Amino acid sequence: MPNVTKLPELNLVSTDWKTLKSFSGCIAVFVTNDGKCSAKCQEMDKICGGQIGRLLASREFSKLKPPGVSVIRYPAGCSAESLLVAKIPEFASQKDEKRLGETIASKAAENQLAIIADEHVRVQGVALGAVLGSYSFDCYRTESSNDEARTNGITVHTDNPQSARDLCEPIPAIAEGIYATRDLVNEPANVLTTVEFTRRIVELQEIGLSVTVLNEEELKQLGMRTLLAVGEGSDSPSSVVIMEWKGSSAQPLALVGKGVVFDTGGISLKPAARMEEMTMDMAGAAVVTGAMKTLAARKAPAHVIGAVGLVENMPGGRALRPGDVVKSMKGDSVEITNTDAEGRLVLADLLWHVQQTYEPSAMVDFATLTGAIIVGLGDDLAGIFSNDDEFVSAFLDAADKEGEGAWRMPLHDPYDRLLKSRVADVKNVGGRGAGAITAAQFLKRFVKSGCPWIHADIAGVAYSGGQNGKSPKGATGWGVQTVNRLVREKFEGK
Ligand code: BES
Ligand code: MN
Ligand code: ZN
Repeated sequence: MPNVTKLPELNLVSTDWKTLKSFSGCIAVFVTNDGKCSAKCQEMDKICGGQIGRLLASREFSKLKPPGVSVIRYPAGCSAESLLVAKIPEFASQKDEKRLGETIASKAAENQLAIIADEHVRVQGVALGAVLGSYSFDCYRTESSNDEARTNGITVHTDNPQSARDLCEPIPAIAEGIYATRDLVNEPANVLTTVEFTRRIVELQEIGLSVTVLNEEELKQLGMRTLLAVGEGSDSPSSVVIMEWKGSSAQPLALVGKGVVFDTGGISLKPAARMEEMTMDMAGAAVVTGAMKTLAARKAPAHVIGAVGLVENMPGGRALRPGDVVKSMKGDSVEITNTDAEGRLVLADLLWHVQQTYEPSAMVDFATLTGAIIVGLGDDLAGIFSNDDEFVSAFLDAADKEGEGAWRMPLHDPYDRLLKSRVADVKNVGGRGAGAITAAQFLKRFVKSGCPWIHADIAGVAYSGGQNGKSPKGATGWGVQTVNRLVREKFEGK
């Protein structure tokens, strides 16, 4: 069964107390930081016999950090299962409103959700957050996949449904991209093989993307040997898939993604503990795919290329060995001292091919590249490397506005000495120190000077244990919103 998680239905209606009274799901109301109850909130309080007022006077509520949610279970006077009382300041940022929507959806779990809009909260941020927070990847749980009746809908009650509908118009395109990224990342590697990933991208032709698939034979012809080397131990064929959205005639922005559908480490085999998480090692490719989906869905007036390298890193009789020397498409020879540093081998050829073929005006790669970036930045901040100050500030600004954590890390040419090989032009692994930086320095060899380039190491942010209070457990979809905003603010109308 191909797994496509459906967006919850989002309805914007004019405030209807009769419906709300008999509504059996969860109802969310908003309160300001100082516990001020708006007219709407007071109306709800009246219905439930003053339970909201009591909550607002409680220690629990005064200790609640905004944007946060307190839950009243089985409130009086109505049929709702829970009242979600959300604390949010006046003039909150859009990212806080989005965060609040996510929290509301997570508290509503699998229930229907009704949100009573309030003047002090912008409905579009909360609604987007609620849609994103409703995501759950449960197609492999027998009971829930049999549960046809389960529909998690979101209804926003507002005084001005028409203007709310206009404001919420961009939500489905954004959410669809993020849902697509999350589905791809969450999918286990026995289902999402290189072949299946390729097939899912080819399907995106239906929404207007042009898709080119390069198979192993064609990759060999092109000389993409470092990319092919990674997949040699696997029974699944390697491929490069290139999506194009031509919404303008400008030189394209290129998005490039690492798509290792499973990373065992290869002959330099990883230890068993938590190896199962390496099913997410294609998250870079998934972000690129999700972002392209969003851009196509909203028909962005921009020219964007999305290129992904799809391989599986397995040990085997044909697998790449430590000590092997492989020639890259660029022409540099690479000594492989550790087959677990495979992502950079995939990206080296892919970055080169994209520059040769499409002459992009700028390029961003996304990759779950190093454990070292997790040591340095944890799971809230992606490591951002760049050769261009202006381009990277635009990217970081977009990430900040979207609430996707990102922190600039240095490129540092002197560390190229750590990549000196005994036999070849370069080796694929530096020493123990500065692991995320030496990985970025390796990539930099394959970026032409003059091409503004960003490398986003998303090993920490792509996947969450569920404690970060943001996305549901599993894939986060980090990056889709940043790319979407970056394109909107910097690559449209040219
Ligand atoms: N895919 C891993 C990086 C990774 C680690 C992603 C943990 C997500 C969570 C990458 O291919 C890898 O194995 N990197 C090695 C590089 C080392 C051999 C130089 C690492 O970070 O240990
Ligand atoms: Mn690896
Ligand atoms: Zn990897």
